[in-house]
Amino acid sequence: MSSSKFVRKVKALVKVTCYAGFISGGLLYYRNDEKFFRQILMPLSRVAMSPESAHKFGIFLCKWNLIPKNDYEDLPVLSSTICGIKLNNIVGLAAGYDKDGEAIKSLHKLGFGFIELGTIMPEEEYGENAKKSTLQLVEDEAILSSYDNNSSKGHSFLVPKMRTLRRREEYKEIIGFNIGKNKKSNYVNDISLNVKVFSPVANYLVINIDSESLSENLYDDLKKKENLRTVLIEVNKARKLFDEEKQRPIFLKLSPDLTNNELKDIVDVTKEKNCAVHGFIISNSKLDYNFNLQSKYHDIQNGRLSGKPLREKSTKMIEEVYKLTSGKAAIIGVGGILSGRDAYEKVLAGASALQIYTGFILYGPPIVNKIKRELSELLINDGYKNVSEAVGKNVKLQQKRFNWIPFLR
Ligand SMILES: Cc1cc2nc3c(=O)[nH]c(=O)nc-3n(C[C@H](O)[C@H](O)[C@H](O)COP(=O)(O)O)c2cc1C
Repeated sequence: MSSSKFVRKVKALVKVTCYAGFISGGLLYYRNDEKFFRQILMPLSRVAMSPESAHKFGIFLCKWNLIPKNDYEDLPVLSSTICGIKLNNIVGLAAGYDKDGEAIKSLHKLGFGFIELGTIMPEEEYGENAKKSTLQLVEDEAILSSYDNNSSKGHSFLVPKMRTLRRREEYKEIIGFNIGKNKKSNYVNDISLNVKVFSPVANYLVINIDSESLSENLYDDLKKKENLRTVLIEVNKARKLFDEEKQRPIFLKLSPDLTNNELKDIVDVTKEKNCAVHGFIISNSKLDYNFNLQSKYHDIQNGRLSGKPLREKSTKMIEEVYKLTSGKAAIIGVGGILSGRDAYEKVLAGASALQIYTGFILYGPPIVNKIKRELSELLINDGYKNVSEAVGKNVKLQQKRFNWIPFLR
């Protein structure tokens, strides 16, 4: 065989191999194949794109409905009603992924029981580090996001979109709005404005008292009882401007770095009459780096960590708030959920619904069904007919044990 003939043959073989690779890759993508996403597609995307570009590309695919097929059927064991909101399954998407509501329908189609938009600010604003804000610490199953990366296209972008979706299209899926403030605005004014604007279209609202857009002073201020009280009084006033069916449940999203005393102060304020909230989202990403990171970025001490390093801390905090509220407030558990087992631990600690972020970024859409499947199996194996029966079970067991000791009763 002449050498030019040989080269032609090799070229043809390479072409056929590439086509075959693309076609089988496309099929595995369409089939939402867990191994393909975890072992091939997501690692490849990390090599090919920056985390910000990958995020934008993910939103683009969702926007144009170029998403994997999802034929997983939610089992009744994962359905629940929290604060009057009926969820087909309790696994939601945490705030930060679809900040401006550009991918809502596709995200629901991927299997999330609910999604949270935001953090939304009234005016369009981009943080100083918005363009280069995150590092994926794969070995640690974590994301490190830098300070001041918060961005929002503002009300003028999101509000008309939501009105069309809810009114014209009568879209009924569950959407929460995580609301914040612009850098130079007054916190109370912006939060009240958000409550007024989003109550007609939201299923629930989240006051993020641990937001990147808050200056450190303001964050410290909000931990003080009197300041939090002022905010919650105004929020409740804004909420009550609406008819009862549009008075949306209010959740407070908490930082995992709160001390036990700060946590108790916050919960105490929410028990006051005009400051009531319906629940807590526990937790946001953390600032405190008391653990050993494996990744090469382990020396970076600047930013906020999400994912596995947050898991234990947020689960403990859920337990603490469940105790402080005697199980009466709804808790949405978030932080390091990467498997059904992680999700189950949060339920047993007191969470009645869950959210994920890092797992979705690192492992792609199949993680949603994986978590739901594994959690359903764990619940059924332990004899629960519905997830609501398992909420706070670990705390209840601990209390039973203490009650058994006469002098601790
Ligand atoms: C890049 C990034 C951006 C985020 N943006 C927001 C946000 O805008 N508002 C908010 O309340 N939480 C935000 N979060 C926090 C997540 O909603 C979630 O609370 C946290 O990541 C813990 O969950 P996880 O361990 O599953 O990631 C963000 C997290 C990351 C990693």
